[in-house]
Formats: sequence, C-alpha cells, structure tokens
Amino acid sequence: MRGRSGGHYRSLGGTGKEGGGLALRWAHRGRDIIIGSRSPERAAAAAQAMNDRLGVKKVSAASNQEAAERADIVVLAVPYAAQTSTVDEVATHLQGKILIDVTVPLVPPKVTRVQLPPGGSAVEAMQKRLGDTVRVVSAFRTSQHTIWMILIKSWNVMRL
Ligand SMILES: NC(=O)c1ccc[n+]([C@@H]2O[C@H](COP(=O)([O-])OP(=O)(O)OC[C@H]3O[C@@H](n4cnc5c(N)ncnc54)[C@H](OP(=O)(O)O)[C@@H]3O)[C@@H](O)[C@H]2O)c1
Repeated sequence: MRGRSGGHYRSLGGTGKEGGGLALRWAHRGRDIIIGSRSPERAAAAAQAMNDRLGVKKVSAASNQEAAERADIVVLAVPYAAQTSTVDEVATHLQGKILIDVTVPLVPPKVTRVQLPPGGSAVEAMQKRLGDTVRVVSAFRTSQHTIWMILIKSWNVMRL
C-alpha cells in the first residue's frame, strides 16, 4: 500500500466540511488526494479550490466509484443516513484497502445525541458488512472540521 509514502488518499464526501478539511490538511502535508463526490462537477470545483488555496496541484477529482478504485486509503465522510448506501456502491473497490470512517451516527432531528446501531458500534457494523478483506478504521469523529484549517494556518505561521 502506498498511503504512508505519499499514495492516494481519497475522500467520499470530500466536498463537505469534514472530508474537505481532512483532504486539505493532507494535501497541505504533501499527500496526493482524490476528492470523490456523487457529482464529478462538485468534486472538480472542490479540488480546484483546494489546489488554488495551497498553491500546488495535489488534489484531483472523481466520481465516488472512480475515486474508490484509484485510492489506496479511502475516507468516508458522508451523513450517517448515507453511510451504508455510499459504502455499498463502492464496496468492490475497497478490497485489500483501509477505509477510514469518520461518520458519526447522528440521526436528525436529534443531532446532539449519538444514536448507536444494534450491537452498539457503527464501525463494527461496517467492518462486519465489508468483511475481513477491508480494514475499517474509526477516526476523527470528534475532530471538528475547523481544526484542520487552524492547523494549516498555524503551520504557515510557523514556517514564516
Ligand atoms: N463537520 C464536522 O466537524 C465533523 C466532525 C467529525 C465527524 N463528522 C462526520 O462527518 C460526516 C460528514 O459531515 P460534514 O459536516 O462534512 O457534512 P457535509 O458538509 O454535509 O458533507 C457531507 C458530504 O457528503 C455527501 N453527501 C451528502 N448527502 C449525501 C447522501 N445522501 N448520499 C451520499 N453522499 C452524501 C456530500 O457530497 P456530494 O454531494 O459531493 O456527494 C457532502 O459534501 C458526518 O457523518 C459527520 O457526523 C463531521
């Protein structure tokens, strides 16, 4: 897997706040990123905005399917209601890869309270669904998206 040495990370829901924040942060640290979206046009606009902001071309765009196929490490950052359907659509491309799931089980309108699925763990349920050939990791669920911007600003200040 090329991920640690600069391979392709990818973010399903990368046009959103959390997926976009992670993508921008990793691109800022030199990683190659593929933004996946249900709309290739939205992905392209998000990727362009990130490249413009960073001043380097580290971010590319694709449909969710294509991004999952090309990536080594896949980040899932969609609303909980779309977690399972989004993963099912790309499951064949996840085999042998790492899936980082940042999805928090919040169900509107009670978005202030986590609503765990039967069995008590959303990530265990996802691991079971995908099988042992995919490594499902739960991460960044308590990291508010604004932290990624703050880290980038701090990094730039430190480099001056
Ligand atoms: N915001 C945070 O600070 C934060 C922190 C930790 C964890 N999280 C978790 O991260 C996930 C995303 O949160 P967010 O705040 O980034 O949300 P968001 O800004 O609304 O972005 C979510 C993205 O998911 C995609 N999406 C939306 N509805 C979808 C659907 N029905 N089916 C498939 N894809 C859909 C959209 O991308 P396209 O329309 O381009 O496909 C959208 O850009 C949530 O599960 C949230 O609990 C958020």
